[in-house]
Amino acid sequence: MRRIQSREYFSGEFDLPGDKSITHRAIMFNGGADGEAVISNALTGEDCLSTCQCLRALGATVERDGTALRIKGTPRFRSGQRLDCGNSGTTMRLLTGFVAGKGVDVTLFGDESLSSRPMKRVAEPLTLLGADVKTTDGHAPIYITPKTLHGGSVQLKVASAQVKSAVLLAGLSAEGETFVSEPVKSRDHTERMLSAMGADIRVEGNDVRVKKSNLCAVDVCVPSDISSAAYFMALGALKGETLCKNVGVNPTRTGILTAFDRLGVEYALLNKRVSGGEDIADILVKKSHLRSIELTSEDIPAMIDELPLVALLCAFADGESRITGAQELRVKESDRIRTTAELIRNLGGECEELPDGFIIRGRKKLRGGKVDSCLDHRIAMTGAVGLLASENGGEIYRSECCAISFPDFFEKLGEKGNGRGHVRDEW
Ligand code: S3P
Repeated sequence: MRRIQSREYFSGEFDLPGDKSITHRAIMFNGGADGEAVISNALTGEDCLSTCQCLRALGATVERDGTALRIKGTPRFRSGQRLDCGNSGTTMRLLTGFVAGKGVDVTLFGDESLSSRPMKRVAEPLTLLGADVKTTDGHAPIYITPKTLHGGSVQLKVASAQVKSAVLLAGLSAEGETFVSEPVKSRDHTERMLSAMGADIRVEGNDVRVKKSNLCAVDVCVPSDISSAAYFMALGALKGETLCKNVGVNPTRTGILTAFDRLGVEYALLNKRVSGGEDIADILVKKSHLRSIELTSEDIPAMIDELPLVALLCAFADGESRITGAQELRVKESDRIRTTAELIRNLGGECEELPDGFIIRGRKKLRGGKVDSCLDHRIAMTGAVGLLASENGGEIYRSECCAISFPDFFEKLGEKGNGRGHVRDEW
């Protein structure tokens, strides 16, 4: 159990950990590429360490020095491996696609939460490309046996970067062209990185085509994760002023800023630049009066991991907010529609579950109380923000799971943030 004091002010400048999605991809793709690469500012949270372990088992060399990773890839994977993906959906789904056409026997398994998440969504399109991918009643463990893959056309029913990436990675070892299309564009880090590594890949709107290609190792400097920065951005909006530095602002990831626009949060992107094919900026946020919002299915993919936090902000807003089209939240590390609604209610707010989202009746403040992470890192961090911004603070149970994506979250939360003053004069 961890006690979180309520604070009247929260201000400061923050360096956040590396982006989880980009780190996973940099490890995995370089692990299967020709040559050596260095990944700097890598996220060393538990999920990305699971990816490191899997690539080592497949024959790559991965050495760690702080947040730098040196990878020596192997285009030929070792057969007969049992890969432990831990809690990480990205590791399991992307790797399933990556190894499906590599001529190896592989089993992928994970922890209890990961073993309850849907895997048919990856197995089905890969089978269409000729792969032999067997799930256990639609779940992990997943068993892969060697098959020669051929290209094909896959229309995704839900926007999912993990499934899209699995198909594209399988397409790298398939004869002919592999086409994948999704209803709304999900994060496109795979497309950007594969292109930088020399793959024959073309993107047109929500459609992507890839042809058989070998990958060449590339160094990657990972930007800070907007999904981790979001907690500190939210604290700026609720309690003072925060500056989050070197944050990845790839447009497929900035849904939190769309939510901020509608909520009426005052923010500015400073020092905008492009590095390693990804957009980066410093994000300055200041205390704002929040109004109620509406979000629908089109808005969801670009803020999928931030939705528990967005729902919390709605509870601090004035009026009734409605979030729909977010049924994917039901199959994340926890059922995040249920766990977010419970979290808000435990803090004294009003939140009603819908099958695909929430209705939140904002009351401008929350009392505080006792919250449980339900072993979901994003629920733990959302709970901590809610308690810190509440009237009385409170207690959070099973908060250690934030190490999945943000190992020093609570240190960062405690290290600064008492100042009343402005961080920057850029307004
Ligand atoms: C991710 C894609 C998203 C996201 C997850 C990371 C990725 O999952 O929720 O945290 O790195 O590709 P879905 O593809 O299931 O939407």
